[in-house]
Amino acid sequence: MRSEVCEPAFTIIAPYYDTLMSFVNYPAWVTYIENILAVHNRNEKRILDIACGTGICLELWSQRGYTIFGLDMSMSMLAICKQRFAYSNNGSVHLINGDMRRIGFAGKMPIITCLYDSLNHLLSVDDLFGCLQSVYDGLEPGGIFIFDMNTVHCLRDEWGNSTFYRKDDKINSIWINSFDSTTCISTLEVRLKIDENGTTKTLSEFHQERGYQLSLIRSMLDELGFRSSLYRHLTFQPAKENDLRIMGVAEK
Ligand SMILES: C[S@@+](CC[C@H](N)C(=O)[O-])C[C@H]1O[C@@H](n2cnc3c(N)ncnc32)[C@H](O)[C@@H]1O
Repeated sequence: MRSEVCEPAFTIIAPYYDTLMSFVNYPAWVTYIENILAVHNRNEKRILDIACGTGICLELWSQRGYTIFGLDMSMSMLAICKQRFAYSNNGSVHLINGDMRRIGFAGKMPIITCLYDSLNHLLSVDDLFGCLQSVYDGLEPGGIFIFDMNTVHCLRDEWGNSTFYRKDDKINSIWINSFDSTTCISTLEVRLKIDENGTTKTLSEFHQERGYQLSLIRSMLDELGFRSSLYRHLTFQPAKENDLRIMGVAEK
């Protein structure tokens, strides 16, 4: 049964996002991207992370000497991102409240990233294509776009219609998934119970992700004029439909 009040994605979850993501080895992800950049002979240190969320990766890039720009549609996520940089001495961050389907960024970037399923949150082919087009337009000639995506296999067979329970620090959470095979869209209700100052707060949000076949992702990138490679995430092995997560590298 659905909760009575369920908020839109990435609003009330924002202050708890970092705790919920504490199982992800983001430093290893950033090192992997640095290896991709090295393999592709890129040594520019200026990066735009679209759908940057609370800025976990932006902070890591900043610590590694990059000039960082972050864009996200959610004011709540950006507010946490802003706090992160208010408390750290890792240089300035340029934050933009915007939609990755229409980046409209003044100035071209050598590197653009989009991480942790963010492209899966675009639920139509037109939206995904619009975003890729916008990234293409926002890159310098020779610029590189690096992104991960969950596969159809992940959304359909791994998440499917299952319910997961987790405990992260003071947060008990329930992750209720349902997969629609006609639209390839996975709908998640995430319910949080948070113990704070002697009281328990209950919150819930809806998230939706769409799975895209690798052939469709490749054909969109080709149509836009990118040279692209899709890898199994965290490797340099060619991506396969039965991988859970893939890493895309698209060069303008
Ligand atoms: C799963 S979070 C990933 C955040 C961050 N990239 C990370 O690795 O932790 C997905 C993010 O995508 C953002 N998002 C979803 N649709 C967007 C859109 N059309 N334009 C910009 N940001 C979007 C959400 O607000 C959220 O911050």
